[in-house]
Amino acid sequence: MVSDLVPMSSLSPNLILPEGLRPKLSQVINHGVPEELCTRMMNTITEFFNLPPEEKAQFFSTDPTKEVRIFNFYLKVKDQENVKMWSESFSQPWHPHDNFSDLLPKNPPQYREVFGEYAKEIGKLNNRLFSLISQGLGLEEDCIQKKLGDNPKLRAQGNYYPPCPEPELTLGLAVHTDPNALTVVLQSEGVTGLQVIKDGKWVSVDPVPNAFVVNLGDQIQVLSNGRYKSVHHRAVTNKEKLRVSLAMFYGPNKETWIGPIEELIDEEHPPVYRRYRQAEFLEEFMRQEGTRRMVKEAFEIRNQGKPVN
Ligand code: OGA
Ligand code: NI
Repeated sequence: MVSDLVPMSSLSPNLILPEGLRPKLSQVINHGVPEELCTRMMNTITEFFNLPPEEKAQFFSTDPTKEVRIFNFYLKVKDQENVKMWSESFSQPWHPHDNFSDLLPKNPPQYREVFGEYAKEIGKLNNRLFSLISQGLGLEEDCIQKKLGDNPKLRAQGNYYPPCPEPELTLGLAVHTDPNALTVVLQSEGVTGLQVIKDGKWVSVDPVPNAFVVNLGDQIQVLSNGRYKSVHHRAVTNKEKLRVSLAMFYGPNKETWIGPIEELIDEEHPPVYRRYRQAEFLEEFMRQEGTRRMVKEAFEIRNQGKPVN
């Protein structure tokens, strides 16, 4: 298994390892979120996805500006219709709760309550992870979270991968890095699907009981001036088993300026990226929809003025 199993209590020394030795993707245990709540959350989101299509139809939308929606990821293929991935995703905000709770599913009946409870716990875990990442960079504990700004964009994405008759012909989720700062993923127990690139090869991240997958996103790579990397990952399907995952994203809001943190720039480490507003990053992200995205590369100083994708 490629993912380094990092107990929460020893995450800090792990994060300050020299570059190259740090885990790119970690599974954290001893994370403080009650096991029983994780199980309830996984069961609830699975129940939602298993509702009859007529009931889910009200949430289907291809409009990415909709706050709450079910949609399909797809790839653009030249001179052909878009190719849909073998999955369905449900996207919604996760905080502040009062702003959107009326838009959430009423069915299963416990959905809103369980989600609210779960979101609170993930908020606390995020704070701890950001503080460890800041310390790993030799910065003040609250540095990263301050740089990510007020009113962060907090969205959740449930991913539903039904069994697939010919898994070798398709993917559940195409290769990508997360465009946000930090992602905490809960995945179905006992079903593999998530893969990361290691030494040019795809390797499975087998689910570890009671662990979260922690993914560093593009904004951490930029803020850390490349000291932390956002890892390329994808999801594959399988013939027999249904797999569900729930990703909780934390990212800056559109107005926030992002760029390499000053303390991390010196003669030996010149800035790799130019500063940008998150809105600009998202525009580039949307522009590259349906392709193998190279979004942060567009903000690399050495690429200025060159087309990257
Ligand atoms: C994502 C993601 C992987 C998974 O939602 O960004 O990478 O395990 N999910 O489903
Ligand atoms: Ni992802």
